[in-house]
Amino acid sequence: MPSIDVCYSPELLHLYDLKEKAVVAVDVLRATSTMVTAFAHGATNIIPVMDLAECRTYAAQGCLTAAERNGIKAAGFDFGNSPFSYMQEIIKGRTIAITTTNGTRAIRLSEAAGEIVIGSFLNLQAVADYLQELQQDVLVVCAGWKGKFNLEDTLFAGALVERLRNTFSFANDSAQASLYLYQIAKEDLLTFLWQSSHVRRLEKLGIHEDIEFCLQYDVYNVLPVWRHDRLVDLAVITN
Ligand code: MLT
Repeated sequence: MPSIDVCYSPELLHLYDLKEKAVVAVDVLRATSTMVTAFAHGATNIIPVMDLAECRTYAAQGCLTAAERNGIKAAGFDFGNSPFSYMQEIIKGRTIAITTTNGTRAIRLSEAAGEIVIGSFLNLQAVADYLQELQQDVLVVCAGWKGKFNLEDTLFAGALVERLRNTFSFANDSAQASLYLYQIAKEDLLTFLWQSSHVRRLEKLGIHEDIEFCLQYDVYNVLPVWRHDRLVDLAVITN
């Protein structure tokens, strides 16, 4: 039986052997929710980039560029990190280079993994179905906030553990802890998260609708996976 484990921060990744694992990278508020939304609206490739300067260079290659730091859209880019920005016609058929405070870092630091899947509440069941099919050991990598634990990514991990618990064993206490936390919160994620640090940070920035949107279950049936040097939607490339 494959196992599922949860890494609460990219800063803990050195403790894990990623080689044979399927990593599920998650940044609920908002990077992976945004990426899933972009694929659902026709983006063909997403290139997660570590820094602003490198991200800027992709514009010359005809990519759309997106950047966020501390929850705010960075100047000089086409988009920030709100999923609502990626519901436009212009997204269709385009490659997007994006850098965010935590989410893109979590993805790039997981490159040694056998597989990287992009997870969010928005595509939770698509991710669970794929992992069932893959039957590889799973490590959920939470983006957290600047290396620290956050609640929303851990709740996603718990939700995924709950959907896989009959066919995956728990590798460590973090899978069990994430499940227990999720079971306390699952009836009303928004209320549970209301006092969390990133929700308070985004609320202060007047970004309320993104929070509610990113906490919805199974809105999109897309499956962003890492191929060579970018993310593509497996649901599209295998049809
Ligand atoms: C992150 O990368 O941590 C988040 O996506 C930041 C945000 O956009 O709120």
